[in-house]
Amino acid sequence: MRKILVLHGPNLNLLGTREPETYGRLTLEQVNREIRRHAKLRAVQVECRQSNHEGDLIEAVQAAPSRGFVAIVLNPAAFTHSSYALRDAISAVSIPVIEVHLTNVHAREEFRRQSVIAPVARGQIAGFGLQSYLLGLDAALALMAGGR
Ligand code: DQA
Repeated sequence: MRKILVLHGPNLNLLGTREPETYGRLTLEQVNREIRRHAKLRAVQVECRQSNHEGDLIEAVQAAPSRGFVAIVLNPAAFTHSSYALRDAISAVSIPVIEVHLTNVHAREEFRRQSVIAPVARGQIAGFGLQSYLLGLDAALALMAGGR
C-alpha cells in the first residue's frame, strides 16, 4: 500500500486551544483522525507526526524516501517563513512535498506571506483549515496517479 507522511511543525500540537479564532477548535488528534479516515477511504497509508524541533522535521524529511513514503504533506508552521535548513532537506529528497496551511497565510501578517519552502515544494494549499491537509493528500495521490 502507498504510504504518505504527514508532518506538522511547531505549535501545531496546541491546535484546539491555540488562537482558536484563527486556527479553529479541532485538536491535532482530531485533525489526524480525519486525515487517517480520508486516507483509508483512498486506500493509502498515512503516518502523522508533529514536532516543535526543526532538526526532527529535517530528519523526518530526509528519512522519508528510504522509509517507503511516496510523498510528504507538510505544514511547516512558522518554519515556513524562516527555515532554510528545512527547505534544503526538501530539495535533497526526490519525493514530492506538498506544503499545506490551515490559514490563508497570504491574507495575514506580512511575514507570513513569504514562504521559503514554497519554491521547493510541489505546490501549496492554504486557507482551508482541516481541508488543506485532505486536499494535500489528494494532490499527492493525483501526482502518484500520473497527473502533472
Ligand atoms: C500555519 C501558518 C503559519 O504562519 C503559522 O506560523 C503556523 C500555522 C497554518 O497552518 O496556517 O503555525 O502554518
